[in-house]
Amino acid sequence: MSSNDFARKQRVGLGTRIKRFLGPAGVFLKGFIEEPRMVGSVIPSSRVTINAMLAPVDWANTKLFVEYGPGVGTFCQPILDRLPRDGELLVIDTNPLFIDYLKKTIRDSRFHAVLGSAEDVEDIVRMIGHEKADYVLSGLPFSTLPEGVGEAIVAATGRVIRKGGAFMTYQFKGAARDLTAEVFPKVETGYVWWNIPPCILAWGWQTD
Ligand SMILES: C[S@@+](CC[C@H](N)C(=O)[O-])C[C@H]1O[C@@H](n2cnc3c(N)ncnc32)[C@H](O)[C@@H]1O
Repeated sequence: MSSNDFARKQRVGLGTRIKRFLGPAGVFLKGFIEEPRMVGSVIPSSRVTINAMLAPVDWANTKLFVEYGPGVGTFCQPILDRLPRDGELLVIDTNPLFIDYLKKTIRDSRFHAVLGSAEDVEDIVRMIGHEKADYVLSGLPFSTLPEGVGEAIVAATGRVIRKGGAFMTYQFKGAARDLTAEVFPKVETGYVWWNIPPCILAWGWQTD
């Protein structure tokens, strides 16, 4: 082994040890350092945000719940805990680091983790055998996404959600709420102080 190979091995070993020591927070931080504009935050959502966001969901009638940008899965277990036995959770993220981490850590036959962009939600939903989603939750940083991507994602989301379902967002700025109001006929909003930083919640209901 050359001295370069040895030095590389030492560095990889240290990175892995740091990630193991910090757990999901370390994986999230690494994802943020590598892709700051796509991840948009250094700290995962709080328990208060999770409970407030999921409160209006009609779980008994949920067959497919979709989440965009799950990161290290802050919402995944709370969703799986509430989902009926015949329900499914599909998560879509552009970052392979997060998708690999979720596949390794969440062992539940109702869970699907797909590497891809939320813009392609309709194809991905069909790929796992569904026509429509009941709810779509988004943790995407809409205000820092590349030009036009946010609009395309919300338009595709409007087409994929069944009547009576909702598009649910939480964001530090109002971009997600404003885009939701352009596509969904009825929008409800909330605010959570107990999050770093505090965030705006929005539920866009599909009434058509
Ligand atoms: C702020 S993090 C969300 C973290 C997590 N949901 C939470 O609540 O703690 C944003 C996530 O969106 C992902 N992302 C960014 N653009 C995306 C896109 N077009 N489609 C799917 N995921 C995307 C990032 O990789 C990152 O995991």
